[in-house]
Amino acid sequence: MSDVAVIGAGYVGLTTAACLAHLGHRVTCADIDRERVAALSKGEIPILEDGLQALVTEGLSSRRLTFVVGAENAAGIAEFVFLCVPTPQAEDGSANLSFVEDVAREIAPVLRPGAVVINKSTMPVGSTRLVQRILAEAGAAIEEVGVASNPEFLREGSSVRDFLSPNRVVIGCDDPAVAVRVSELYRSLNAPMLVTDPASAEMIKYASNAFLATKISFMNAIANLCETVDADVREVALGMGYDQRIGFEFLHPGPGYGGSCFPKDTAALLYAARRSGYDFSLLEGVVEVNFRQHERMVEKVRNLAGGTLHGVSIALWGLTFKANTDDLRDSPALVIARRLIEEGAKVQAYDPAAGERAATLVPGLEVVPDPYVACEGAHVLAVLTEWDEFRWLDFDRVLATLGRPAVLDARNLLDPVALRRRGFTYEGVGR
Ligand SMILES: NC(=O)c1ccc[n+]([C@@H]2O[C@H](COP(=O)([O-])OP(=O)(O)OC[C@H]3O[C@@H](n4cnc5c(N)ncnc54)[C@H](O)[C@@H]3O)[C@@H](O)[C@H]2O)c1
Repeated sequence: MSDVAVIGAGYVGLTTAACLAHLGHRVTCADIDRERVAALSKGEIPILEDGLQALVTEGLSSRRLTFVVGAENAAGIAEFVFLCVPTPQAEDGSANLSFVEDVAREIAPVLRPGAVVINKSTMPVGSTRLVQRILAEAGAAIEEVGVASNPEFLREGSSVRDFLSPNRVVIGCDDPAVAVRVSELYRSLNAPMLVTDPASAEMIKYASNAFLATKISFMNAIANLCETVDADVREVALGMGYDQRIGFEFLHPGPGYGGSCFPKDTAALLYAARRSGYDFSLLEGVVEVNFRQHERMVEKVRNLAGGTLHGVSIALWGLTFKANTDDLRDSPALVIARRLIEEGAKVQAYDPAAGERAATLVPGLEVVPDPYVACEGAHVLAVLTEWDEFRWLDFDRVLATLGRPAVLDARNLLDPVALRRRGFTYEGVGR
């Protein structure tokens, strides 16, 4: 059992803290957000994440999990300090490391000898060395403090499951003894453990996300092509997926990828490629296809509305970047909502988890608490997030509520045959 500090109580930090406490470690989780820390200390979870509530409750009652304000209040007592703070996209596409740098400066004076600082945030190649340098400059006894890269691969919506049953754990460290100590934190998980150099560990994270984004853009491009040759992309994906070299995952076309990782991580990798003089036109194409896919959804809505969006009322179902999360960061649904409003549409949206927050992110967007209310008088209904509950709604009621029975199913979630039988005009993606 080890003493662990986790800095940042967001999607990654809170999951890391709760899961490590569940595995038996004593964990202090720090955030700068006082309200968040106060709520967490009472067992109130600020994010939607399956299974997290139970683990936080368990950690608090066993006293293996505590929450504090301020990184230095957690780091001083820890053998391992996980950095789980944001690394958002900067103006030039690079990863903004200022949160990481601030934390490194803050914790440097309090780190105890033998402590290991672990970069779990997604950080570009060179960041392990950067953190080492900042710690040294800010007063840490660097010959006695280790730094390792340990990128996180969890998916929002299944973060607890992913953390506790990872496909692999990657540890990048120059010092084998430090790498072994970090690996021991995860020993009970029984996962493949890859110990490598820091640069390779950092690149593994970016390469993985860029590859997944590539799969999505590739399938979106194939879907668009399917539409022109009258093929069904779902059949195509099935036939492709049986090939074990391809696999079934990430073959679903849709409105384009989004969320807090793929857009910023592809941008940061492109930035790194530019900096090193490599022309990564393949990845540029992936990003371009994604941008155009958002636009294509706007075009589909416009066509369903009769050629113009001006003065047209649109209902949206789903605002989060995917189902089973409350995360709205870089959500394609919000990009599409913004574009529809720009073209003069009146947009009413419903989402099971996003709530009123979405309205503050898109000027003019009206968020309603009921999927049927969103449809009242609308000329087109666009399903933008694959929430399962949308499948089971009463489509006779939807038909009666809509001003015009036209549906864009941007996730291929609904049954086109059943909808067409009811009299809907149905438009999917690639079918
Ligand atoms: N969200 C994901 O699915 C995911 C998956 C893998 C990796 N990552 C990476 O993990 C990192 C964190 O992502 P996230 O989604 O958890 O972010 P998040 O915004 O949900 O959480 C970050 C937390 O850090 C806190 N914070 C900021 N500065 C701080 C400071 N100085 N001291 C203490 N706390 C501070 C914030 O208040 C916030 O609660 C990013 O680099 C991201 O790319 C995210």
